[in-house]
Amino acid sequence: METNVTNIIIEKVKKSRISEVDFSNLPFGKVHSDHMLVCDYRDGAWQTPRITPYQGITLDPSAKIFHYGQSVFEGMKAYKDENGKVWLFRPDENQKRLNISSKRISIPELPREIFMDGLKTLVQIEKDWVPTTPGSSLYIRPFVFASGTGLHASPADQYKFFIVCAPSGPYFAGKVRVLIEEKYSRAANGGVGYAKAGGNYAGQFYPTQLAIQKGYQQVIWTDDNTHEYIEEAGAMNIFVRINDTLLTSPVSDRILDGVTRKSVIDIARAEGITVEIRKVRVEELVSASKNGSLKEMFGAGTAAVISPISGFGYRGSDYDLPEMKDSYASLLKKKITDIQYNKADDPFGWRFEV
Ligand code: COI
Repeated sequence: METNVTNIIIEKVKKSRISEVDFSNLPFGKVHSDHMLVCDYRDGAWQTPRITPYQGITLDPSAKIFHYGQSVFEGMKAYKDENGKVWLFRPDENQKRLNISSKRISIPELPREIFMDGLKTLVQIEKDWVPTTPGSSLYIRPFVFASGTGLHASPADQYKFFIVCAPSGPYFAGKVRVLIEEKYSRAANGGVGYAKAGGNYAGQFYPTQLAIQKGYQQVIWTDDNTHEYIEEAGAMNIFVRINDTLLTSPVSDRILDGVTRKSVIDIARAEGITVEIRKVRVEELVSASKNGSLKEMFGAGTAAVISPISGFGYRGSDYDLPEMKDSYASLLKKKITDIQYNKADDPFGWRFEV
């Protein structure tokens, strides 16, 4: 990563909380590191970013985030290798996507240097918080929201950009069972599905709770128009293996351009796996399951990395996926995490030392 060009005001904690944390038993996203980055937007410009002790903030009850939901976020991780070096994975992609998301909901774009320099400086300060237990990492959550006030339904005039960090264990404990959703939709053409907008996730909670009550852990979203095609797996992109071909839905207005998704596609192709980026019908899954050609399904996202699916429910029937000895999910997870944790060469140039 290039050297810092941004002036960052740094106020460090008087005493670290790190000795109070049980690094052998980390939940996902619940423990916060000592510091956070904050940068305000006001008078038409992003101001000098600050790194401060992690702390609560005060907001006016009329802040537009509370009323009109102007907020976007990113998900990233920092990984520690066996020599104690700390790495980020494709941070440029998150930086660009944050602004793509912001633009869609009228949040002013954040200068690249503030994101990149702020991220690098914060992670350097929090190096000791990057865990080393297998499957764990420092989950990094950059986000922007409307702090400007007013009940008029129009964009705010003030915003806040934050980066907070959480040493975290795995997102899911094991394989998940999923329900193919035909009533509720995650996104629609012309909508905000491609943006990492907070509201996209809020809208998933209720249908996901209904699926959980029926014994599933996640929902497979289908297209809002016909509900015939699979689109995403919970908060992740979806992959399906039919025979030896790996299929994934094309990104669109409705589908997030996931960093893990595009990395998995590149790694799979480099491994000689045929990848088809095309729409996949639910009926194709059902008939492939019936004739034995449906070998695997998995979700791909930063938090969960690759999350294998054990089976799916559709229109009152359940379809189990076979236990695969040489699963693509295991291979691809190993390949991507070996790059992330600096355990293997990085032929794609995705890794950045902090
Ligand atoms: C991620 O995978 O990092 C995400 O942003 C999804 C989030 C719901 C945990």
